[in-house]
Amino acid sequence: MAADEDRGAGQPVRLWGSRFESGPADALARLSVSVQFDWRLAPYDLLASRAHARVLHMAGLLTDIELTRMLAAIEDLDRACRAGAFRPTAADEDVHTALERGLLESLGQLGGKLRAGRSRNDQIATDLRLYLRDHVRIITARLTELELALIGQAERHSHTAAPGMTHMQHAQPILLAHQLLAHVQAFARDASRFRDWDARAAVSPLGMGALAGSSLPLDPEAVAAELGFASAADNSVDAVSDRDFAAEFCFAAALLGVHLSRLGEEIVLWSTHEFGWVEVDDAYATGSSIMPQKKNPDVAELARGKAGRLIGNLTGLLATLKGLPLAYDRDLQEDKEPVFDAVDTLLTVLPAMAGMVGTLRFHADRLSATAAAGHALATDLAELLVRRGVPFREAHEVVGHLVVWCQVHDCELADVSEDDLAKVSTLLTPDVREVLTVPGAIAARAGRGGTAPARVAEQLGRLRQDVHKQAAWAAGE
Ligand code: ARG
Repeated sequence: MAADEDRGAGQPVRLWGSRFESGPADALARLSVSVQFDWRLAPYDLLASRAHARVLHMAGLLTDIELTRMLAAIEDLDRACRAGAFRPTAADEDVHTALERGLLESLGQLGGKLRAGRSRNDQIATDLRLYLRDHVRIITARLTELELALIGQAERHSHTAAPGMTHMQHAQPILLAHQLLAHVQAFARDASRFRDWDARAAVSPLGMGALAGSSLPLDPEAVAAELGFASAADNSVDAVSDRDFAAEFCFAAALLGVHLSRLGEEIVLWSTHEFGWVEVDDAYATGSSIMPQKKNPDVAELARGKAGRLIGNLTGLLATLKGLPLAYDRDLQEDKEPVFDAVDTLLTVLPAMAGMVGTLRFHADRLSATAAAGHALATDLAELLVRRGVPFREAHEVVGHLVVWCQVHDCELADVSEDDLAKVSTLLTPDVREVLTVPGAIAARAGRGGTAPARVAEQLGRLRQDVHKQAAWAAGE
């Protein structure tokens, strides 16, 4: 084969080495090799290679025929990679080396022309951006499915009252839908964070070379446009050393992980015997190898657990970056595994959470029956007194006394007779009992952001619109 003659048959392809007297020690090669994890960047590296071949041609560094042959070979290699017919070997240091070997094998000497004017430093920064910009959209699409599952449950329970908690204690009744949509609010912020991220990540490093730019008449703007970036970088030193886009992605992923964990924690609690609010569908629960009766909410627990590794990916990457002098340092090779792990983790957790949430069966009767438990209508009573001109300080005290009376007599506020109310305070006239209903308490919170059914319905409508916009963006529309 022509390429083998070029480099000496049986010699591994290396992108450097002529100034070295010996080959690399095995221990160095084992430390240095990244192809086992960066191979997933192959389609993006080839995309960038196509764009680079075109600018080399525009610069007069490839003839028409050479460009045609080069693009055809890249096309073939792309197909072979996707089909698994072309694979990296143990001797390929990284994805760039493996793919250059592929081109040398099919093009001979011509394959070696593509490296002109680019370095692995601008290449890897470009590949990782391309990969992430694609995958952030895929993650957003999966996220919207979870949001829609929550919105569907909120719609089903648009009139189900539930205990609202602070400090994990009954606080005030709310609509279950309001609680579920609170999680959607957080996820909607995650989706918009990914979109904001994308605008900042849309800067192309390709053409910046090793660190200083290129002496060849390349056109980084043309490359950027071909690869779907908004612009080329303004500073070649920054372009090859900047990994803000990776860290920022890891942050957005970690925060999404934290939101998934908080939802997971609630589902774990809600599905306990003690709460009894919800039943997880069999398809999203697991059993015990010893206790035949068990049904465990593992999806929710794994979502909670995976937040730890998403946070770890972020902190690990930041620690890698913090001491690095500009421009490129090999430490930067450590950027990929945390990023890939964050992508893989989210793409595994999100569909499981969407499936579990969509199939939850809430026990609406139990939720409604306990919505006012723990004297949760006390604020309503105090605010009624305020509306009647009583200073809040005094109203708070009067209702506090009534709560103590209820505790002593083991009853709820609404169970107290008119006579007993009057005994606690003359302010507690018989008609105060009107506000001691759960639907009344919920309907009364009718200001913007409140739990009143009309406000929750508006909120749901706005979130549905947001989610459709997110889904359209994720689909590239
Ligand atoms: N595998 C390397 C990385 O991930 C590619 C860039 C190598 N550049 C270099 N100058 N050795 O960062």
